[in-house]
Amino acid sequence: MEDDVIAVIDFGGQYTHLISRRIRSLGVKTAVIPSRQLRPAELKTVKGVIFSGGPASVYEEDAPRVGIELLEGRPVLGICYGHQLLAHLFGGEVEKARVREYGRTVIQVDEGCRLFKGLPNRFMVWMSHSDHVKQLPPGFTACASTSSSPNAAICNEGKQLYGVQFHPEVSHTENGIQILANFVFNICGCIPSWKMENYVDRVVQEIAQQVGDGRVLCAVSGGIDSTVTAALVSKAVGKKLKCIFINHGLLRKKEPEQVLEALKNIVGEENVVYVDASKRFLEKLRGVADPEEKRKIIGHEFAAVFEEYSRKHGPFTHLAQGTLYPDVVESGRSVGGSAVIKTHHNVGGMPETFNLELVEPLKELYKDEVRQIAELLGLPKWLVKRHPFPGPGLAVRVIGEVTEEKLRICRDASAIVEEELEKMGLLDDVWQAFAVVGDDKATGVKGDVRSLGHVVTVRVVSSVDGMTADYVKIPYETLDRIASRITNEVEGVSWVTYAISSKPPATIEPQ
Ligand code: XMP
Repeated sequence: MEDDVIAVIDFGGQYTHLISRRIRSLGVKTAVIPSRQLRPAELKTVKGVIFSGGPASVYEEDAPRVGIELLEGRPVLGICYGHQLLAHLFGGEVEKARVREYGRTVIQVDEGCRLFKGLPNRFMVWMSHSDHVKQLPPGFTACASTSSSPNAAICNEGKQLYGVQFHPEVSHTENGIQILANFVFNICGCIPSWKMENYVDRVVQEIAQQVGDGRVLCAVSGGIDSTVTAALVSKAVGKKLKCIFINHGLLRKKEPEQVLEALKNIVGEENVVYVDASKRFLEKLRGVADPEEKRKIIGHEFAAVFEEYSRKHGPFTHLAQGTLYPDVVESGRSVGGSAVIKTHHNVGGMPETFNLELVEPLKELYKDEVRQIAELLGLPKWLVKRHPFPGPGLAVRVIGEVTEEKLRICRDASAIVEEELEKMGLLDDVWQAFAVVGDDKATGVKGDVRSLGHVVTVRVVSSVDGMTADYVKIPYETLDRIASRITNEVEGVSWVTYAISSKPPATIEPQ
């Protein structure tokens, strides 16, 4: 049975994927389609359409729009810009509002409207707009208002068209998920069949079919995306998969051993190739202080090592990689069909000569869905809950030249940060937590002897997607313990500092 699908048309809104994820959390599949790429065929089988928000004004000449003929009588929910677009498309009038509404606002709704069925008649919503619907389109009525927006929600129940000026997808909006549920279930009539159990069964079958008699190569980093990819491909093709785990010498403490053990358990020891290329990478990085240069070298070297080993263990017909849904949408690809690897790969530049067909079992999924699959497949807990770790590894946490000594300090100090946060039950609540070391040295006194030692900076941040971040206000006692353990246990460190810059203006990683 095919899953019911809600199309989310993206007009450049910052919350488009959030709308999509909320609908999926209700068990309904979504397809995010950038408005300028919308083709009639894509809406043929969808049960309903959501117009996202966006930064444009519908009355501007080049504002993104869609033709109403594409909707073909399907239910539509317009959100923010989408609400204004809906009004505009059906003959209403949108203008710049005198008062810009931003933040929490109390709304009064008509509980008779199917969108607000079962909700209280007043609640708090989250607004962010400077245009508003001045004149309703013919056949529409206002079904919600705020003190400054008489048309905060509009509807034409007969045609199943709804618009809300506020954002039901953000967590600050009370009853937001109920509003979305009313739309997808009561109005669009969707059946909640989007479940990761079903997804795994389907994708495993598809991979087996795609690969046929071929052989698949997969680069695994130990991160959740590449590991789940390997696990799914292994389920589908068994011995026809070879996983290559390259240790570039920039991994965290005990990471190579942990990843290798987990990988062997997941895909079988005989299907894993472990390459310890640390010496080779460190050699190439010698004397290089510029972070972008380091990234370039690591990317190139990674591709070279990967190619060497794949040639040795090949020939291969397919390359498995853990591309996620937002990347597919962003690159303007459709999730149907399969691509052939050319020059780009998420690890770094892959050689063009590869010419392998891509197997991308996660290309329809968001990160939280990948985590659900990891749990379903019984992957180790530490792997499921792992913090994101940059591809170039500790090379971006060691400021300046990467040396064995700075790597040791960075590794050992980071392990202490993680251990202490774990003891406090804080580790899983933060986005990333690590130590940074550069070339700055400060004076320390051990016994009666003054000596110079490295300055280590501890960085602990909270974030939702890595785009913005806050430093975490961890208790002074925990900071105390971290600082004293690092100076006592890590040879060559005299000072410990705590990074209290948020992103922006700082970045999460120091380099
Ligand atoms: P920044 O430092 O830009 O980091 O605030 C945002 C998120 O991206 C990760 N990051 C990287 N990941 N390759 C990666 O795969 C990189 O070169 C890289 N640089 C930063 C970082 O860990 C954070 O989660």
